[in-house]
Amino acid sequence: MKVLVVGGGGREHALIKKIKESPRVEEIACCPGNGGISYDAKCYPDISATDIPGVVRLAEKIKADFVVVAPDDPLVMGMVDELNKAGFRTFGPTAAAAIIEGSKVFSKELMQRYSIPTADYKVFDDSAEAVAYIEQKNEFPAVIKADGLALGKGVIIAEDLGAAKAAVKEIMEDKVFGASGSKVVVEEFLTGPEVSVLAFTDGKCVKPMVTSMDHKRALDGDKGPNTGGMGTVSPNPYYTSEIAEECMQTIFLPTINAMNKEGRTFKGCLYFGLMITPKGPKVIEYNCRFGDPETQVVLPRLKTDIMDIFEAIESETLSELNIEWSDDACACVIIASGGYPKSYPKGLEISGLTNGQLSGVTVYHAGTALKDGKLVTSGGRVLGVTALGRDLKEALDKAYAAVDKIDFENKHFRKDIGARALAAIKNG
Ligand code: AMP
Ligand code: GLY
Repeated sequence: MKVLVVGGGGREHALIKKIKESPRVEEIACCPGNGGISYDAKCYPDISATDIPGVVRLAEKIKADFVVVAPDDPLVMGMVDELNKAGFRTFGPTAAAAIIEGSKVFSKELMQRYSIPTADYKVFDDSAEAVAYIEQKNEFPAVIKADGLALGKGVIIAEDLGAAKAAVKEIMEDKVFGASGSKVVVEEFLTGPEVSVLAFTDGKCVKPMVTSMDHKRALDGDKGPNTGGMGTVSPNPYYTSEIAEECMQTIFLPTINAMNKEGRTFKGCLYFGLMITPKGPKVIEYNCRFGDPETQVVLPRLKTDIMDIFEAIESETLSELNIEWSDDACACVIIASGGYPKSYPKGLEISGLTNGQLSGVTVYHAGTALKDGKLVTSGGRVLGVTALGRDLKEALDKAYAAVDKIDFENKHFRKDIGARALAAIKNG
């Protein structure tokens, strides 16, 4: 079969490498793709991931048998709906279901209506009222979130009133996230380790994947601004089997049922961003898609043919499929351009790779381009250097040894990916 993957980052590269393992897949196309992905799939760089008519036309032109829509924006915009209307089989939720990520106000109200544990919150569409509320509450840090999509950067943890006022102004008045900031959610600050759980669901049953831990801040020691993610490890040692069972009963199943009751059946990968608080696991956020860079450490551990899973979800027969995972640990270290997540140069030549890869690890390309046959940087997050190991330490050692061999001007990576997980394993 011929598979088209929509998107062009490290997550899409990880999906494509896994799809390539399926004996039933003859051809993979990707739009827009990137320099590194072009070693594994035919890329269409002129078709952006949000160009719905362009993607439908491409699927028709190449006669795609299956289309996988990976990023949040086209899902929220309804790309799957349009592909389905044109007769294509797809992986990814419809717009009606993708709103679970597309609007934080929607997701908070959903959790409240169905008693799904999450941080207490209040919604504002007026900046003065938001500030007055924060001032009167006088509890810091305060958590301020833009309602809509914001490239994973729409959450501000304000340490004091000054920072909170600045955040509300940035989101609601300066509109740094555009229309995503017409409303804000102000919520209670929760504490505890974070766990990312990606789950396959066909709306009837839910099958959580192996867990992972993201490292969202730009700098070592969880300092610096929030990013799209600077590295991941799998499994997440904080996620015990007792917590898994509790999450299934109090979060995963109630969410799937709630979406069905709302007439918004979710089919695809539902991402639960959880915090294990002293009062039990709570939802920090939902994403309507595979996480990035969580996918890069989860999919290498998948043993089942991913196309079997995608087809079972499409035909709503997921409960009949047994999904198998390896016991290996996996680590992904992101190499970013110095300056990310703010401003950074592009077009810097990357050294140390042969055909985009390096032996002993898998290099998922997030922001690379091929220029005159050479790989150059084309984004903030550039590469996700990923290794499997018998345990987390082995996986991290392999990944970091490879990171040292790859270079470009002003390369930046965190040196403490997995450190907290290793400490948690050591302390039992
Ligand atoms: P989100 O984009 O919603 O995942 O938020 C980004 C990050 O902000 C999360 O991974 C958490 O580290 C942090 N965060 C979000 N909401 C809260 C909260 N209510 N309490 C504490 N930290 C939070
Ligand atoms: N790594 C977090 C996300 O994909 O939203």
